[in-house]
Amino acid sequence: MESFAAYLQSLPKSPLTEAVAALYEAADGLRKPSAEELAEFVSAASETEHRMRGDWDSNREAIVNEDKEFIEQVSNGTFQAVTDGNGIVIYGEADGRMYVYLLFVRPECRRAGTAQRLMEYVKTQAKGMPVALSVNNHNTAARTLYKKLGMVDSKKFGYDGYDIIEMQSPTIR
Ligand SMILES: CC(C)(COP(=O)(O)OP(=O)(O)OC[C@H]1O[C@@H](n2cnc3c(N)ncnc32)[C@H](O)[C@@H]1OP(=O)(O)O)[C@@H](O)C(=O)NCCC(=O)NCCS
Repeated sequence: MESFAAYLQSLPKSPLTEAVAALYEAADGLRKPSAEELAEFVSAASETEHRMRGDWDSNREAIVNEDKEFIEQVSNGTFQAVTDGNGIVIYGEADGRMYVYLLFVRPECRRAGTAQRLMEYVKTQAKGMPVALSVNNHNTAARTLYKKLGMVDSKKFGYDGYDIIEMQSPTIR
């Protein structure tokens, strides 16, 4: 497909060719995760999140059950998942927005642009809807990433005594 990228570049620049190029770039190399990858990513993301919250050890059984339900919702098509093998994003339409429910990159693969690429892919799937998500206020890496993508705080709330910020972007980038 290199030739297609070259062909796109050779065309006179227009909003249409730029949109097609962005779509092509974003979709390149992304695929649906296998069942094993999905389970592995969800469990790693969940452990990271709950360790940050401090309830991983005390609440493990309930967390594992929640994860199973979540995986089932991906398997039955309620939510969509894409991966490049290094990271995963799980998203779905909710109340007129494209909501990102999970974004996780393997620790050894971070700071190589994976999360940014996955988020840009979600934008291509959002059909003009705003992209939204909830993030722990203390999660500096994620907060910095979303701000870099142009997302802004849309709501603040406590969850289990935890600071959660909802961020939203009608225009990622
Ligand atoms: C947050 C996370 C998804 C970022 O993934 P990543 O692939 O490393 O992110 P990218 O390489 O695409 O980073 C893009 C930008 O985000 C920001 N960023 C990412 N990690 C950062 C960090 N540790 N500290 C500060 N800024 C960071 C930077 O602006 C970065 O651009 P730069 O590398 O050019 O400076 C990853 O750290 C992760 O999986 N964390 C655990 C799970 C999690 O917190 N998920 C989000 C829940 S809402």
